Formats: sequence, C-alpha cells, structure tokens
Amino acid sequence: MQVRIAHDAPATVRTGALVVPVFSGAELSGPAKAVDAALNGAIADVLSSGEMKGKLAEVAYVHAKDQPFHRVLVVGLGEADKFEPYMLARYAGTAVRYLGRRKITEIAIALPEQAKSDATLAASFVAEGAISGSFDTTIYQDDADKRNTVETVTILGGDADAKALEAGCTRGTILGEAVNFARRLAVTPANDMTPTILADEATKAAKESGLEIEVFDEARARNEGMGSFLSVAQGSAQPPKFIVMRYTGDPGSKELLALVGKGITFDTGGISLKPPERMEEMKYDMSGGAGVIAAMRAIGKLKPKINVVGLVPATENMPGGKATKPGDIVKAMNGKTIEVINTDAEGRLILADALCYANKLGATKMIDCATLTGAAVIALGHAASATVTNDENFVQQFLNVAKSTGERYWQMPLYDDYTTAMKSDIADLKNTGGRAAGTLTASAFLKSFVAETPWIHLDIAGTAYLDNDFAWQAKGPTGTPVRALVSYVETLAGSPVVHANGAKAAV
Ligand code: BES
Ligand code: MN
Ligand code: ZN
Repeated sequence: MQVRIAHDAPATVRTGALVVPVFSGAELSGPAKAVDAALNGAIADVLSSGEMKGKLAEVAYVHAKDQPFHRVLVVGLGEADKFEPYMLARYAGTAVRYLGRRKITEIAIALPEQAKSDATLAASFVAEGAISGSFDTTIYQDDADKRNTVETVTILGGDADAKALEAGCTRGTILGEAVNFARRLAVTPANDMTPTILADEATKAAKESGLEIEVFDEARARNEGMGSFLSVAQGSAQPPKFIVMRYTGDPGSKELLALVGKGITFDTGGISLKPPERMEEMKYDMSGGAGVIAAMRAIGKLKPKINVVGLVPATENMPGGKATKPGDIVKAMNGKTIEVINTDAEGRLILADALCYANKLGATKMIDCATLTGAAVIALGHAASATVTNDENFVQQFLNVAKSTGERYWQMPLYDDYTTAMKSDIADLKNTGGRAAGTLTASAFLKSFVAETPWIHLDIAGTAYLDNDFAWQAKGPTGTPVRALVSYVETLAGSPVVHANGAKAAV
C-alpha cells in the first residue's frame, strides 16, 4: 500500500472514496462540513436521522454519483473533548478495512482540524493505521475476494505544514509496515516459521534497513554458556538460533538499549505437555521476538540518534527423547543454576540467557517482551500488557509514551516475596513459583538475570493476538509491542514523534 500527502480541498478530490471524520454530539466541522455542503446536507441527514452517532469507528457510507469523489465514508472519532491522536490510526484503519472489502483501490482520508496542531503525529497515525488496517491473513488462501483492495491512500492535510505532514507520512508508513511484518511472522504457522526461518527473516530485515546481524547456532550459543536457552531447544529436531541485530545511531555514546524478545516458534509445553485445547495458538509464542525484529527494522529505517541491540533467542519447545525433564538442573550464562520444575515455563529460561547476553554487550537499559504467562491473561484479560520493572523512572517514561501510541500497558509490582517463591532447594533458582501471581514470579525469575541494569518486562500473552476483530483491526496477531517500542526509542533518542499523553509536552 502506498500512502501519500495532498493538500486539495476534500470536496474537490478525485478518488474512489473520500473519508471524512465526525465527532459525536458536535456540529459538523472542517472537512465533513465542506463535503456535507457539496452533498446538499447528506452527512447532516445521516447524523440527524440517528443512523450514526459519531462514536469511534462507527461508519456511514454515502454514494455521491456526480462528485469527483464517488463515495463518502463518514467515520466517527468519538467525543471531541476525548480525542487523542492515536485514534486517527483507528479512524484510518476502519476506513481501509471497510472500503477494502468493497473493491475500492484508491481512497483519500481527510484530517480533522483538531489533529493539525501536530501534523507530523497526525499523518503518522493515519499512515500507520491505514497500513495496519490492510493486513490480512490470506497467505494460505487463493481467494482474491478476501483480500483488501485498497492500494493508494491520500492523506488530505489541507493547510497544515507540508514538510511536517510528509515526515509523519514516512514515519507512519515505516511503523505500519513494521507492525504488519511482526504480525506476518507471528501468524505464520510453526512448520513455516521455524527458528531457522525466523532468523532468515531477521537477516533479510537487517539487510533492508542497514542493521548488522549475527545469528548464533547451537555451538556458538554453547560457547557463550547459554545452557538455559539450549535446555529448551534440546527436545526439538529444529536447530535453535540466537538472533543479534545491531543498530548504531550514536557511535560516540556508551548508552545501549537492548530489546529482547521471546522467540518460541512453537510451545508444546515440552515434557510438561500442554493440553490440546487451543494449543495451535502456541505458534504465536514468538510474538515478542517478532516484535523485536520488526521494531529493529523500523529503527534501522528511521535512524534515530541512539544505539539499540535486538536479541531474540529462537527455538521450539518440544517433548522428545532428548528433551529436558522436570527436575533437571541447567546453568545459565551468568553461572546461576536452575531447577526445571515445569518444562512449560520455558520462556523465562530462554530470556534468562538473552538478558545475560545483553549485559555482556554492555546494555545500559533493557526491555524484554514475551508471551510469558497465562496468568497475565487472567490478571488483565486481553486489554493490556503486564508491565514490570526494577527502575521506576525508566518505566514511567516508557508508560507515558506507550500510552499515547494506543497500545495499553499496566504496571504490576515486583515485591521481594516473588523472588523468594523462585528459590530452589537444590539449585540457585527454580523455574516456577506456584499458581499465585504467576506473572510476577516469572518476572522475579527474569530479574535475577538482569543484574543492576534498568529493565522493563512486558508480558504480552494477552495482547499479542486476539480472537475478535475490531472495525480497524483484523483478528489474530496485533503487532503489539512494535508501536510502543519504536515510539519509546525515538523519545530516548531525543527525537520524539509520539509525545507523552498525546500532548506536545516534555517526557
Ligand atoms: N507461552 C506460554 C504462556 C502463554 C499462555 C501465552 C497462554 C499465551 C497464552 C508459556 O510458555 C507458559 O506455558 N507458561 C506457563 C507457566 C507455568 C508453567 C508456570 C503458564 O502460564 O501456564
Ligand atoms: Mn510454555
Ligand atoms: Zn511459552
């Protein structure tokens, strides 16, 4: 999909469908008002008849036979005083999904007046939302009717600053494509997304965006002392890969941000086998890794002034003759021994070595993301990712930016009690801490491998993929946490696009 900027007045645009925003309970204004005048009050009729109220992502479709735009899609943005810029992504995504099912190839999306105070941000959200709205999962289907037909999106920026709009359009395109890249990696089933294929995808992404990449094989991982990571891989016929992607945007600086993503390409549970119900969803257990690979690709293209390394330990978790057995004791890179009580608590085992390796590389900050615990879904459902930290200032800065991207994160505490629960009688640690507070005992386990480095852990088990679709988003993989990671990296680099709480304020 191509997204571009134009400055034409909405009512004069020649396009397959013109998209205009309305706010609920408000007078028509801006582009909706101008188009309404050209249509002799047709949009006002839609609202006064009660056909639509203007709630976020609500739509009304109006045919406009004698106009240069052939159709108008009126899309709600909710109450004007609750407007936040990220809603523009949902506005655009809703339009692309609605029109892309109706054989329309070219659309023009008008920006509401409210958005123009930050034209870069507005154009970015529209571009990102339009591209992510076009994501479909027809990779394995031949049915052209199921594919989204929208090819060209023109953002109508009116009199807003042209350079600012262009910058936003470019950035939003990169981000939207990264989101869809993460989603494609995640949705691809495990037979077609092995650790080797995931590493090949990362290599291609690195080449495209000018990143350095190294992929460690089993022997190299063993030399590094990654016994915890390899203990998960040993039951699988697929060779494990440890992916290291590097972006050096600030060569003079010693600061290094590590992004670490769980790359379990399939989680059977291992010898502690999972029940069959919904086990197919465990192809998504590399969503954190996909998020890191995709965020790194976007970072390579956006070129912020910062150094970032992306680490993805990738393996299957399988039962087999060589698989780890409950009770086995393995040793991580930092020398700590771990009693494996439950082979289904494998995510923390592979992340342990990745966090150690981040420290070896000299990381000064770390963020890991992982579909780590079913308990995160019990605690927060599918509404937010659980967020845990050892550094309050760090997490507040991250949460402030993340909130404005439209992704949701909710902080949970990391009391010493959870660390106590992970003590083993026979090794330094055990890999499970009982049923209570499963997300937090898992976090406490990870904390033992972080040392003193400021660290944030994102448990995306409930948010990486969804059973239901939204007007703006297909069901399946969501691309979480790509938006938050990329936006936070830009902020850390001193070139924020998304500002805390949606306002143009210092973070
Ligand atoms: N990948 C799962 C967590 C998961 C569950 C993600 C549901 C998405 C949806 C993880 O490896 C796992 O199996 N965790 C166990 C840990 C337990 C054995 C301590 C869990 O949450 O049950
Ligand atoms: Mn598991
Ligand atoms: Zn898992």
